Amino acid sequence: MTAGSALGLLREIEDVGRDRHRGGYSRHVFDDAERDLRDWFVERASGLGLDVSTDRNGNLWAWWGEPGPDAIVTGSHLDSVPGGGAHDGPLGVVSALAAIERLQQSGFAPTRPLAVVVFAEEEGSRFGIACLGSRLLTGALSVERAETLQDASGRRFGDVARDAGLHDFGADPEALARIGVFVELHVEQGKGLIDLDTPVGVGASILEHGRWRIDVRGQGNHAGTTALVDRRDPMLPAASAVLAARRAAAARSGSRATIGRVEPVPGGTNVIASRVSAWMDVRADSEQDTREIVAEVAAAVADAAAAEGCEATVIEESYSGEVRFDPALRGRIAATLGDVPALPTGAGHDAGVLAGYVPTAMLFVRNPSGVSHAPEEGADDAAIEAGVDALVRTLEELS
Ligand code: GLV
Ligand code: MN
Ligand code: MN
Repeated sequence: MTAGSALGLLREIEDVGRDRHRGGYSRHVFDDAERDLRDWFVERASGLGLDVSTDRNGNLWAWWGEPGPDAIVTGSHLDSVPGGGAHDGPLGVVSALAAIERLQQSGFAPTRPLAVVVFAEEEGSRFGIACLGSRLLTGALSVERAETLQDASGRRFGDVARDAGLHDFGADPEALARIGVFVELHVEQGKGLIDLDTPVGVGASILEHGRWRIDVRGQGNHAGTTALVDRRDPMLPAASAVLAARRAAAARSGSRATIGRVEPVPGGTNVIASRVSAWMDVRADSEQDTREIVAEVAAAVADAAAAEGCEATVIEESYSGEVRFDPALRGRIAATLGDVPALPTGAGHDAGVLAGYVPTAMLFVRNPSGVSHAPEEGADDAAIEAGVDALVRTLEELS
């Protein structure tokens, strides 16, 4: 069985995990859609003669040749944000399979082990921490912390993981030691390559980024009978957080702050909430800017909470420092590809986690919409072919 082109592979999974309600795709770690994608990956990778296994953290590995050490590893993820696009993650996986098939057909014999990896829960859409699979593998996230992470239904990661057969999740020094170099191909999530009018670039850096949960507690009550002066409505401080986040980010060049998820409890049109949780994503050029934005939002929420008779807390759920991809590796790849541009990004990636441990690089593929984490995310056929071509040449150069 052959893997076929990256475009053909993307078409094979175009109906998996479609979200009729939100639009786009919802594929979350260990849900039905994500399991279907895992099965599909195993079938496709096995069809290329690769040996497929799942590591202790639920990451899938498909090996061409004996596993490690000093392996060249490429791949990405198959999970999505809620209502996400078709390319964030899957493009890197299908391109890796297509590249390996192309290398096999050309008679190429790798001098180092080569593997395709599919990292688990890259988006953190189910358990709240992005790049969970790579953070666990590297030891960047402790078992104790992972154990208690909860999904929206209150299920703990530890229980879900054990149900999925992962009885021993946590740092995996053997898996990490096998990775000699990691290259992740990814759809571009901004407009850099559109502006440069070129289909492929290499990653230069990733912004500092983190996630914070803002909890505001008030008094649940009746929307019709509770006079305004008698209310302790936690939605007001939550609303002040949304506005403060925009204000604080706008005051610091290159920064972004987003509240994309708000959960009022109990959540009824005619009910003043008793509690509101809001999740804030902050990204900036420096840790100082990031911390200042969070502090400013926390102060605005505290003021609004005091005025409304509510209590507020702000909890850091995750933090990642700035990533600068290995300059020597980036230069080598750019030269191999004919001096393609180097682009910074505000998006997080498993490559960003691994960059703290092994030489790591990223290839970006032009996205004509410039939109990502939404159904309009895309990549034109010619750019996808150029991306696969770039990955083939990169793997050849590194072998
Ligand atoms: C992942 O795509 C992120 O940047 O949050
Ligand atoms: Mn993403
Ligand atoms: Mn991604």
